[in-house]
Amino acid sequence: MTETGDKLPFGLQPRSVLLLYTESNAFKRKENQQVSQRTFSIIKPDAVRKGHTAAILAEIEKAGFKIIAVKKLSISKTQAEGFYYVHKERPFFGSLTDFMSSGPIFPLVLEKENAIADLRKLMGATNPANAEEGTIRKKYAGSIEENAIHGSDGEDTAQFEIGYFFAGYELA
Ligand code: CMP
Repeated sequence: MTETGDKLPFGLQPRSVLLLYTESNAFKRKENQQVSQRTFSIIKPDAVRKGHTAAILAEIEKAGFKIIAVKKLSISKTQAEGFYYVHKERPFFGSLTDFMSSGPIFPLVLEKENAIADLRKLMGATNPANAEEGTIRKKYAGSIEENAIHGSDGEDTAQFEIGYFFAGYELA
């Protein structure tokens, strides 16, 4: 386009067009070239029931995450099984999906540099008994299963999990 001297629509510069092509929903390159990453999280039914939603959201924002999208909903057992299908052979799959469909949850899309690893650090270990002081699970989780919050464990997982709960137009 640029070699022929054709004008781009809407005042776009060639670099903007390149970025439009290369950006995905999961990653965004900022002006300073630092990569902002997206991750997916759920405030789980136990934390919602106990009234910890606002406190957990505040911890997430205080840690520098931008909340790109959030919604409150209840999911069916079948929908919980679809979300956790990677765990379908695990002995806790039945009780985990009963728990996740037992009441309202808050799915979240969060953004910052190094979001996936940083959120997992902020959450703490899966089992709150092993979680570091100051982490969300140490403060708010009751057990290894009812552990207050979920966070994606990798880039592929984040993409799948974001897409499971949010449509593209909700992330614009
Ligand atoms: P989450 O980060 O959502 O990922 C899978 C979930 O399975 C985990 O948090 C816990 O809620 C649950 N889980 C993991 N290990 C066990 C276990 N040993 N017993 C019961 N639930 C578990």
